[in-house]
Amino acid sequence: MVQPVFIRYGSGVAEEIKSMPGVMRYSLDKVGGFIGRAMEAGVRAFLLFGVPSAKDELGTGAYDEDGVIPTAIRRIRADFPDAVIAADVCLCEYTSHGHCGIVKNGTVDNDETLKYLARAAVVYARAGADIVAPSAMMDGQVKAIRDALDAEGLSDTIIMGYSSKFASALYGPFREAAESAPRFGDRKSYQMDYRSSRTPLREIELDIKEGADIVMVKPAMFYLDIIRAAKERFYVPIAAYSVSGEYSMIKAAGERGWIDEPRVALEYLYAIKRAGADIIITYYAHMVKDLLERA
Ligand code: PBG
Ligand code: ZN
Repeated sequence: MVQPVFIRYGSGVAEEIKSMPGVMRYSLDKVGGFIGRAMEAGVRAFLLFGVPSAKDELGTGAYDEDGVIPTAIRRIRADFPDAVIAADVCLCEYTSHGHCGIVKNGTVDNDETLKYLARAAVVYARAGADIVAPSAMMDGQVKAIRDALDAEGLSDTIIMGYSSKFASALYGPFREAAESAPRFGDRKSYQMDYRSSRTPLREIELDIKEGADIVMVKPAMFYLDIIRAAKERFYVPIAAYSVSGEYSMIKAAGERGWIDEPRVALEYLYAIKRAGADIIITYYAHMVKDLLERA
């Protein structure tokens, strides 16, 4: 299991995300405490998301060597040598318009975006990330990142592609957490239509050809068929990202006493595992020990 972590600047801050009870945004000095507690609860791997203090048109904060994520990676690497550190590679948290790429003439320019994603991946790998996880859904992003990493002597860095990422309504709470909702339009020009079951497999195949070491299906709960199809067809590890909306739905119904949260949460996590996920990215990761005790 992989625990997503939201990191921001400042000190002494651990603020709860309103639409995700139990999930916090940590300032750089507080994140180590959380990682330590999660490791004690059995979590080994973390997927880091940055919330920068300023945003601009080109998403500069994403590839600044002293940006929030490279700084966090260096600290976690030093304090927790056994932790597996994965860094999300995208521009949407860092751009003023909130899109995952560079906007030109009102639309996202795929090819122009590639070099910025590659630069961010190199900066995170140099800071000590074991895994870089491109989530922008730009065509050719895995190859651009693989080439850039290899050119820098970082060929051991693992690429986990967000290969099969749907334009889903389940990302709402995340966009609050990361302050990354697009200011205009939507992400449908680069994320996939959930009515299709062939396109996701083609996207996964392309990512593997471009050099992805791990491929991901996202969201997870409503996409178990895609996880299973990918598992049967491809021979690389399959990751499933159980996204913010999945967590929030279970949490909210549990808080109202309408469902038994620990039992429902375990049931859905096992469903994802049963479908064939080798890796599950879930906001519940650090709570699973507790869920097992309470179920
Ligand atoms: C950014 C990104 C998103 C998520 C992971 N990386 C949001 C989006 O595409 O809007 C969603 C994660 C979640 O909802 O938990 N590209
Ligand atoms: Zn994005």
